[in-house]
Amino acid sequence: MSMLRTIAAAALFAATAFALTHASAATKAEDPSVARGRYISKIAGCNDCHTAGYAMSGGKVPEKEWLMGDGLGWRGDWGTTYPTNLRITLSKLTEDQWVKTARSLQARPPMPWFALHDMTETDLRAFYRFVRQLGPVGTPAPAYVPPGTAPQGPFVQFPAAPK
Ligand code: HEC
Repeated sequence: MSMLRTIAAAALFAATAFALTHASAATKAEDPSVARGRYISKIAGCNDCHTAGYAMSGGKVPEKEWLMGDGLGWRGDWGTTYPTNLRITLSKLTEDQWVKTARSLQARPPMPWFALHDMTETDLRAFYRFVRQLGPVGTPAPAYVPPGTAPQGPFVQFPAAPK
C-alpha cells in the first residue's frame, strides 16, 4: 500500500469513528429537564428523606434506588409518618395531575409541603420527568400511624414543641 493510500484509509477510518461516536452521543442525549429534575431531587432535600440511607451515607445511594420511600418513621405529636415511595406516587399521576397535586398538597410533618407550593411549574415538571424515567419500583412505605399508637418498626422521636 502506498503512503498516500494508507493516509487516506486512516482518514476515512477516523471520519467513520467520529461519525459513529457522534451518532451514539446524539441518541443518548438526555432530556435537559430530566437533568434538572435530578438536580432538584438532590438539592431540595427530596432524597434526604424519601431515599433510605441517603443523608446517613453522605448521598452515596445509587440513583436507581432513589425516592423509593423509607421505613424509618418520624414520630411526634402528629403521629408517625413515613417518607413515601415517590416513584409509585408519580407512576399513578399524569404530569399535569402531579403539578395540580403538588400545588395543593398538605402533608404531615416533617414533609415540607409548602416548599412544593413555591416550586416553579417548570421545576415540578422536571422533577416528574426525572422520577418517571427511573420507573415505578419498590414497595409502598409503611402506613401512617396515629398519635398514641406505637409504630412497629424503627422511628425517630421528636420532642414536644416548646410551649
Ligand atoms: C424532612 C423530610 C422530607 C423532605 C425533605 C421531603 N419529604 Fe416528602 N414527605 C415526607 C414525609 C414524612 C411524608 C409523609 C407525610 C404524611 O404521612 O402525611 C412525605 C410526603 C410527601 C408527599 C405526599 C405523599 C405522596 O407520596 O403522595 C409528596 C408528593 C412528597 N412528600 C414529595 C416530596 C418532594 C418532591 C420533596 C423534595 C422537594 C420532598 N417530598 C421532601 C418527608 C420529607
